[in-house]
Amino acid sequence: MNHFEYRKIVNPPFFGRNELFCDNVRVEDIVSSVGTPAYIYSGKAILTNFNEIKDAFAPLNPLICFSVKSNSNLTICKTLAEAGSGFDVVSGGELYRVLKIGADPSKVVFAGVGKNSNEIRYAIENNIFMFNVESQNELENINKIATDLNKIVRIALRINPDVDPRTHAKTTTGKKENKFGIDFVTAGKILRQARKYPGIKLAGLHVHLGSPIYTTEPYVKALKKLTKFLPECNQYGIKIEYINIGGGYCISYTGEEVTRPADYAMDIIPLVRQTGCKLIMEPGRFIVGNAGILITRVTYIKESSYGKKFVICDAAMNDLIRPTLYDAYHRTWPLKSNVPYPKIEYPEEKPIVKRGTEVVDVVGPVCESSDVFAKNRVLPKVKEGDLLAIFSAGAYGFSMSSNYNSRPRACEIMVNGESFSTIRKRETCEDLISLEL
Ligand code: LLP
Repeated sequence: MNHFEYRKIVNPPFFGRNELFCDNVRVEDIVSSVGTPAYIYSGKAILTNFNEIKDAFAPLNPLICFSVKSNSNLTICKTLAEAGSGFDVVSGGELYRVLKIGADPSKVVFAGVGKNSNEIRYAIENNIFMFNVESQNELENINKIATDLNKIVRIALRINPDVDPRTHAKTTTGKKENKFGIDFVTAGKILRQARKYPGIKLAGLHVHLGSPIYTTEPYVKALKKLTKFLPECNQYGIKIEYINIGGGYCISYTGEEVTRPADYAMDIIPLVRQTGCKLIMEPGRFIVGNAGILITRVTYIKESSYGKKFVICDAAMNDLIRPTLYDAYHRTWPLKSNVPYPKIEYPEEKPIVKRGTEVVDVVGPVCESSDVFAKNRVLPKVKEGDLLAIFSAGAYGFSMSSNYNSRPRACEIMVNGESFSTIRKRETCEDLISLEL
């Protein structure tokens, strides 16, 4: 089921027009109350997506750790914790958030190449499940802090398997040129020295290859490499009990069918089963990406004699940076339109301009040429004051937002079936300066 859909209005005065709904709530009703720009999430979609992964991998009963960096809103984390999710955190701040909502620390894994001593101590004191360790120096630091605290800490070695996930270079993490993880030779060296670390229990292997990954093949390649490494672990008396395959499960940004959890499961489950290990997963984008949209209002239309037409709106790259940073494609469409929202868009193809549509650039007000949400995009003709929805914005949208150009950040709204509530207030100018002395 699609939780954001256009419905035909059957009553006058808007008879026949298509209007965007989030579950059973008319999106314009939300905007009338909270203003723009606004992130709107479907609570139902978040749970549906979480359960789709859970069901697909049910034969292995994995520990699913929602990747907090994709969307760290407290209400969203709490919704997932209540559904049984664990959490993948990458900073003391993310750990603080999940502890704040009462998440079970024994379902928290901690990744990242540069965990500092304060973060490590904080995580150990709060009894998290496992650290995903990214270098021998980090391992030594964790060992030292654990020993000081008189604890033995469970860790997984994050392996860099040198597998190409065939995604954007800036979101590729498991190739040899990337800063993440430990190569197999160095990991072997760590195994040989494992006895040196009395504060550490080496219990897992972790990989995160990149994101989004559109086929199962990179996971298969990486799992085969991990499986080959297991005898070396055994040889040094180290029993690997957990395999963590990270995140990266794709979503459709264009309406096209893409690989789904059941497809990943079909290829991944047999390989993990062979190892006899328990599975850990760290999905972020799959759970929240298509469960959220960003709503913006058109401030001005600007046409140039060079033949360009700009739709200037009140959201900007500081609200959603993915198009600027990765040339990411986010479908964009007016909240109300007589032109039906296309089922699929083909970003690589030359735009076809149908009746009632035109080619425009959808841009924000920030003083950067890269502040563009959609370039040369076919859109129904819009006018100043109209509302636009930018789709697939639930993951790495608000969580990567900033105050650049001293712009207060957008509010976040959660829809639950028939009703909606604000889960993060819109920032004010006062908030912008509140920490400055
Ligand atoms: N686990 C680890 C160790 C990660 O580094 C990440 C994402 C995930 C899990 C979750 O990946 P997901 O399931 O969400 O694909 N800002 C970029 C994505 C960067 C992802 C960084 N790591 C974007 O907007 O596409």
